[in-house]
Amino acid sequence: MSAPLLQIRDLAVTFAGQGRNHLQAVCGVDLDVEKGQLHGVVGESGSGKSVTMMAVMGLLSPSACVTGSVRLDGEELIGKSERAMRRIRGARIGYIFQDPMTALNPLLTVGEQISEAIRLHERKITRRSANERAVDLLRLVAIPIPERRALQYPHEFSGGMRQRAVIAMAMANEPSLLIADEPTTALDVTIQAQIMELLERLRADKGVGLVLVTHDLGVVAGAASAVSIMYSGRVVEQGHVDDVFAFPRHPYTRGLLASLPQLDHPTARLVAIPGAPPPIAMRPSGCAFHPRCPLAIERCRIEVPALRAIGASMSACHRAEDLRPLGPTTNEATHAGA
Ligand SMILES: Nc1ncnc2c1ncn2[C@@H]1O[C@H](COP(=O)(O)OP(=O)(O)OP(=O)(O)O)[C@@H](O)[C@H]1O
Ligand code: SF4
Ligand SMILES: [Mg+2]
Repeated sequence: MSAPLLQIRDLAVTFAGQGRNHLQAVCGVDLDVEKGQLHGVVGESGSGKSVTMMAVMGLLSPSACVTGSVRLDGEELIGKSERAMRRIRGARIGYIFQDPMTALNPLLTVGEQISEAIRLHERKITRRSANERAVDLLRLVAIPIPERRALQYPHEFSGGMRQRAVIAMAMANEPSLLIADEPTTALDVTIQAQIMELLERLRADKGVGLVLVTHDLGVVAGAASAVSIMYSGRVVEQGHVDDVFAFPRHPYTRGLLASLPQLDHPTARLVAIPGAPPPIAMRPSGCAFHPRCPLAIERCRIEVPALRAIGASMSACHRAEDLRPLGPTTNEATHAGA
């Protein structure tokens, strides 16, 4: 079998803290993305989603110590020089951040910016051809009258259109991998759905592998085929979306699912996970989820659970075997043996 498009193995990121304290933001992350696959990475704020993706792209500050392996089409990226990574970013990995304004230059027209992104990696292309390609890219992301829109500045675009422009820029050099970090969080619900449709179309038509980072498990449900659930710097559950939703093998995933509105039972009471994720400097011993977990036992306070295969998925829970599939109206989703 050929290597996955993106293969992350045992990735760890440690930041230098005050004195001799080191802050481990990400630990032991394994994650694969196949060509043409959408892999959702889900977790609450501070779970390490962005740090993981920044490590993949080589965008962390020098104060971050990154270990493990990140392979793109079989080629190791960890340890590459900044110069080499600059050639890979944009050309082979496109990335889309949460706030489109941070990715756009307010002083240049949208067309100029996309054209520049093309010319950065394709030195021989003429300005005219790059401009034409920029218009084609705006058309690809469904911007109406792209010839005219290319001549406008970012502030003349609505929020949703700006995010489309950023996606067009990320696609400028036809990357094989697109990393989208909360691409719809700043947008209203209708526009969110349109952006998700667009990403899905790029995946299906262009065959790009897509990593979609989100705190909303609901976004992943309709779009992704694979999902990784992160908690306090670790992947705690991973698998095919259908398997994870039908039979979540980790109490945290069950808590996330229980807090989603149910379309078929709109009156069902939503169950929020009690408490908040811990700051990394105060990560609990053993399973970091244990202070919030209704199933925690003594072992959970002592021993970090390894991510292991269980059923069709992977789970990092000592009590994964005690969990049962979710019923159609299960609200106390974290119940074991129910
Ligand atoms: N440069 C840094 N120095 C020290 N700690 C950092 C640094 N960058 C991130 N962290 C810490 O690493 C942890 C993971 O952060 P990260 O940004 O990956 O979270 P996230 O899952 O993307 O959250 P959000 O949903 O809020 O975007 C957090 O506790 C954060 O405070
Ligand atoms: S290992 Fe223990 S505390 Fe952690 S999720 Fe499983 S049961 Fe809960
Ligand atoms: Mg983030």
